[in-house]
Amino acid sequence: MKELNRLFENNKKWVLEKTRENPDFYTSLSNSQDPQYLWIGCSDSRVPANQIVGLEAGELFVHRNIGNLFVHSDINCLSVLDYAVNVLKVKHVILCGHYECGAVKAAMEKPGKGIVDHWLCHIRDLFLQHKDELFSIENLKKRQHRLVELNVVQQVYNICHTPIVQNAWLMQRPLCVHGWIYDLHTGFLKDLNLCFSSASQVENLYHV
Ligand code: CO
Repeated sequence: MKELNRLFENNKKWVLEKTRENPDFYTSLSNSQDPQYLWIGCSDSRVPANQIVGLEAGELFVHRNIGNLFVHSDINCLSVLDYAVNVLKVKHVILCGHYECGAVKAAMEKPGKGIVDHWLCHIRDLFLQHKDELFSIENLKKRQHRLVELNVVQQVYNICHTPIVQNAWLMQRPLCVHGWIYDLHTGFLKDLNLCFSSASQVENLYHV
């Protein structure tokens, strides 16, 4: 319990700090939220979304799962995207992967981790899809890093292909989908320079 008490102590400190800076901090946040960004990232404890980009409570709408995947049939991430785009009207969707991702590493090995193996199949499929390029990279670390990048690219495409994003673009709403990587070794973000902001950048077949 001592360990959990520490969390409550931290919470008290946070409340004091915030109300000292702005006595209305919690009152105004309790009324509404107006985030401009949706962050979709990995559940990894080393990749804390708000801290990485220096945003306060109320400024970033967040969805995290193992391997930062956006799966077409996942009602959880679809609901998050729909709510963020159509209700909160965020202007940017950021799909952020990270180097040293345990999900990517595990997907390059044989299954044997239990239920999570089903989820990791999405990355394993991607690994096999790009196996020629990936096996041409001899250094294992570099090969893993490349799969981290390819995974971000694929998930960005998956987001762009949803009718949610396609409809927003059809209605001429400003909405950019970005692919980033967080480098655990340095703390810096890397922009993969994937920035999709219109249907013309995506295959015709996905247009609504
Ligand atoms: Co990860």
